[in-house]
Amino acid sequence: MWMAELLITMWLLLPTYIPNNVAVIVGGGPPLDRGLMLRGRRLLGDGKTARGALGGAVAGTVVAVGLNALRPALEPLMGPLPQFPPLVTVALPVGAIMGDIMGSFLKRRGGFARGAAIPVLDQLDFLIGATVLTLILAPGWLFRTVTPTVALFAIVLTPLLHRIANIVAFRLGLKQEPH
Ligand code: CTP
Ligand code: MG
Repeated sequence: MWMAELLITMWLLLPTYIPNNVAVIVGGGPPLDRGLMLRGRRLLGDGKTARGALGGAVAGTVVAVGLNALRPALEPLMGPLPQFPPLVTVALPVGAIMGDIMGSFLKRRGGFARGAAIPVLDQLDFLIGATVLTLILAPGWLFRTVTPTVALFAIVLTPLLHRIANIVAFRLGLKQEPH
């Protein structure tokens, strides 16, 4: 049933998407790398702040816990939805933030300025981070929950939704570039 799997994909992606969007809203203040340079380039750049990382991770965790609480009420209407075990409520958002930071680290090593658009990296870095941290902390849950169809939906949907969210943030003046 592809409709059920599409719904499950969106459910799983919510705590993974929220962190970076919240980071854009609450970000600012001192950068995570404190201005540190590596071979003449910033380690991460001014676009990765402690406030954004922390705010985003907390928001994503709150969303995962909230979805767990809503699940019993929604399942009769929407069919089976995955429960996030406690470790996963943290692994998905923290992994997403770490993946985004890793993406900036790689961009700086490649000599790209803050805000430069790198198509595939920009859109999948946080999904890769969330998957890797969940694989480390809750491999059994990951393999049980993320079927090949769900994984395929996630990879196809993410760049699309990411693009839409960034255009909205750009129009609202929250982001300097629409990517
Ligand atoms: N942001 C933040 N802290 C984070 C992630 C994001 O404060 N950990 C905020 C910053 O204000 C950042 C904005 O969200 O400029 C957009 O995030 P992103 O597109 O990831 O950063 P860029 O500014 O494009 O920088 P980079 O080139 O490093 O991706
Ligand atoms: Mg960017």
